[in-house]
Amino acid sequence: MLELNDVHTYYGSSHVLHGVTLRVEEGQVTTLLGRNGMGKTTTLRTIMGLTPARDGTIRFRGQSIMGSRPHRIARMGIGYVPEEREIFPNLTVVENLVMAARPKGSWNLARVFTLFPRLAERRRHWGSQLSGGEAQMLAIGRALMTQPRLLLMDEATEGLSPLLRKEIWRVIGEIRAEGISILLVDKNIKALIELADRHYIMTKGRTTFEGSSADLSDNLEKLKQTLAV
Ligand SMILES: Nc1ncnc2c1ncn2[C@@H]1O[C@H](COP(=O)(O)OP(=O)(O)O)[C@@H](O)[C@H]1O
Ligand SMILES: [Mg+2]
Repeated sequence: MLELNDVHTYYGSSHVLHGVTLRVEEGQVTTLLGRNGMGKTTTLRTIMGLTPARDGTIRFRGQSIMGSRPHRIARMGIGYVPEEREIFPNLTVVENLVMAARPKGSWNLARVFTLFPRLAERRRHWGSQLSGGEAQMLAIGRALMTQPRLLLMDEATEGLSPLLRKEIWRVIGEIRAEGISILLVDKNIKALIELADRHYIMTKGRTTFEGSSADLSDNLEKLKQTLAV
């Protein structure tokens, strides 16, 4: 579904991604793990075309998306839940969702509200009035309104209470059950081992580990240093 091969990305003259190679298989949840500053967010931004790669290849559903503009990449079917959520504070929940909506797909307001009953209760609230958990639900709902085949989620449960984290894990399971593939950045290794199919660890701008949940689980002691757990 998504394939990155030896991808290099820079911020100005600062070389940040030094060869990222990873695959997301159709219908699977794949994680991108690693300590802070290792390049996880930059990898997602590179896939979206927000910080374009300078070298390597990126293919989505068999087609190169290297050099494509972010709106085009989104329209091809990649949804993005950014680390900072980026909710419009002066629009309501409904308006935030409708802004993102693309026709020709099964996701609509009703389905997002079924997935997140909490958002339905807050439908007329301003973006600025939402709690951290509600903002994250809205960011996920907004990404679903773009009718994605692949969802990129950055720090999916960062800053959320254990209860809200569980809610996000539930939703990720339901989204996967819909056949949407997911590339997930998060730090809750135990939950991710249960939830996800494959895992990558990034170290200093490179993917340095790739494996199944069983592989990750078996090597956790050895990998502690690269995961900061
Ligand atoms: N806008 C930027 N300009 C310059 N350097 C940046 C910028 N954003 C991130 N970086 C640097 O790129 C590296 C990777 O950052 P990032 O992708 O955010 O890592 P992670 O998401 O794994 O914490 C870090 O060294 C960070 O300081
Ligand atoms: Mg990050």
